[in-house]
Amino acid sequence: MASSFGAAQVLVASNRGPVSYEVVDDGSLRAKRGGGGLVSGLSAIGPEADALWVCSALSDGDREAVRRGAGEDGVRMLDIPADVHADAYNGIANSVLWFVHHMLYQTPLEPVFDAAFRRRWASYESYNRAFAEALAEEAARGAAVLVQDYHLTLVPGMLRELRPDLRIAHFSHTPWAPPEYFAMLPGDIARQLLRGMLGADRLGFLTRRWADAFTACAERFADGLGDTAVGVHGLGADADFLRARAHEADVEERITALREEIGEGRRTIVRVDRTELSKNIVRGLLAYRQLLDDRPEWRERVVHVAFAYPSRQDLAVYRDYTAEVQRLAEEINEQYGTPGWQPVVLHVKDDFARSLAAYRLADVALVNPIRDGMNLVAKEVPVVSDAGCALVLSREAGAHEELGEDAITVNPYDVVETAGALHEALTMGPGERTDRTKRLAASATALPPARWFLEQLDALRAVRPPA
Ligand code: G6P
Repeated sequence: MASSFGAAQVLVASNRGPVSYEVVDDGSLRAKRGGGGLVSGLSAIGPEADALWVCSALSDGDREAVRRGAGEDGVRMLDIPADVHADAYNGIANSVLWFVHHMLYQTPLEPVFDAAFRRRWASYESYNRAFAEALAEEAARGAAVLVQDYHLTLVPGMLRELRPDLRIAHFSHTPWAPPEYFAMLPGDIARQLLRGMLGADRLGFLTRRWADAFTACAERFADGLGDTAVGVHGLGADADFLRARAHEADVEERITALREEIGEGRRTIVRVDRTELSKNIVRGLLAYRQLLDDRPEWRERVVHVAFAYPSRQDLAVYRDYTAEVQRLAEEINEQYGTPGWQPVVLHVKDDFARSLAAYRLADVALVNPIRDGMNLVAKEVPVVSDAGCALVLSREAGAHEELGEDAITVNPYDVVETAGALHEALTMGPGERTDRTKRLAASATALPPARWFLEQLDALRAVRPPA
């Protein structure tokens, strides 16, 4: 792993890094390692390569680790001033760019691009500049730099100016907005975002649809793609890791606990999400209520297990959404519940072992986002399912491109159709369910994280051979 300035051969840059720190009672730092595709992807390049991950210091513990110079080898955390980070991350990345790419704005109230927006934009620029400068310092000559996501859209262009020798890639883990929606942004900002991206040698997207939307934006608001290559890498589930992890003792314990909550002999509809507007949890609950209305035969015989883990709670719109999810779950329980049956079991405390337990025992998985870059839940459930699980899947999830044939497809806005799809999923015969789950698992694991990462690295090196 890279230890001295200018030595790194492969660099990853993302807002959220692979590790976070907490100051514990005796004053020492405790590290918590994250999971996800990038973590397993980067580990695949092996210890012989000089690799460095540049990320933001996000917690007090992270900032303390930076101050003490106590971070891990191979990770450099940037201690960006808290107000600059908050404006860039909450004010621009999560409330503007996320909303544009997921098409989440609700006119007439949003968006308003006023002077306050322009001030936050200046923070977004300086936050991106801090990343570009750190990468420029750390990268060896001709190194490969893989920049991640909408937080760091301007980095490729800034870095290209500082270090023309580098090979630069950017990967979007979100959708990309179609030109009609992207046009909502102020013209100069739209152009700046595209120029930032087009500073890269190569841009990666999760599906063809998002890649085509980017190309259309580049054609309409810039001079086209120029020398920048565009590729699609559909991140898949990590079957080996998931299957092993899903059979550890803590997961078995949670299966027992969940079975008790659900009750003997009942079918289970599972959903697992961050409490995120794009995930469409409220319409999922409305569809479940519609099912209980339309098909009274399911009352007492089915339970909706919904895990909605808090996310981005600094933003009022996310707090309100979280409250609405909780309110609606309670309302359904009051309306339909009986002494022996709770129709909705909602858990909000993040617990990966419990998510895996729910994946294993689910009869039906509900994945109904309004729009989603990929959606890994749709890919993980079939991989760990014990007895086969029917998948109700929004046509707007990136995963639908690969899984659509064996899922039951829904329009995420149509709760009546979604209720019908839940009924169809619940009544699917066991043979068909098993067959479909097998095919879903095969498609879901076609490009595991390590290969997904190496494929991008190879493609980047191929578009720009050494000088
Ligand atoms: C999406 C984004 C990631 C982000 C994650 C969690 O998947 O593509 O970049 O890390 O959401 O959101 P958070 O705001 O908690 O980092």
